[in-house]
Amino acid sequence: MEKIDPRKYGRIVFFTGAGMSAESGVPTYRGHGGVWSQYRWEEYACQEAFDADPEKVLRFHELRRAAVLACAPHAGHATIAALEKEHPGVTVVTQNIDGMHQRAGSVKVIELHGSLWRLRCPEHGLTEDLGEKYGNYRCEHCGSWLRPDIVWFRDMLDQYVMNAAIAAIRSCDLFVSIGTSGVVYPAAGFPHFARSNEARCVEINPEANEMSSLYDEAIRAPAGKALPELFA
Ligand code: APR
Repeated sequence: MEKIDPRKYGRIVFFTGAGMSAESGVPTYRGHGGVWSQYRWEEYACQEAFDADPEKVLRFHELRRAAVLACAPHAGHATIAALEKEHPGVTVVTQNIDGMHQRAGSVKVIELHGSLWRLRCPEHGLTEDLGEKYGNYRCEHCGSWLRPDIVWFRDMLDQYVMNAAIAAIRSCDLFVSIGTSGVVYPAAGFPHFARSNEARCVEINPEANEMSSLYDEAIRAPAGKALPELFA
């Protein structure tokens, strides 16, 4: 594997998906054995489910939090976090809600699908809430149920977050996609945005998928092995 010298690039985007976290042992959502084969998302991961039974939905998300806390970031997360410390142009754009990049030390992280570690009051906005159990199920100011700040099924993506992601990708000159099938909107458009800026596009994924042809290079290895070697 030919190494990449990050100093040759002004802006670098690491775009990550479920495969990045799966390598740490975080349960995946889709596919065989995924969370949605065990739980019906209609009962646990949409606004309608939350409106019908907020406590049930919050308890389900506490299970997800516990599963994530049982896992640790891997060498790939650590490589990205270390690069950010020495390179001001590094941004992570992630589809993952588990906060693993931040736990590894990454700071500039754009979370397209929200976070398991934030709650949202319809009146009073966002609060960070770490730990296995939520500190409060209800807003301390107004008593409203607090909703996980996650893009659930049937939700729209946050336009502000989406614009930030697109701006980062459109202006990068190195785009590294890791552990994503790239088929779920809006990921499918991202390599096109990067290419429009003539960015070098690298895919890290043990398996090819229908988006792979959009990349200049593919590294068919797990993220925890590929990233430290690529940026050694
Ligand atoms: N290193 C790199 N890639 C890996 C690894 C690994 N160790 N293990 C698996 N992969 C790859 C798989 O080959 C697959 O292409 O990770 C990819 C995971 O793809 P998806 O499950 O489709 O995940 P993702 O692209 O993140 O899906 C997007 O869909 O279910 C929703 O909200 C969920 O964020 C998720 C979104």
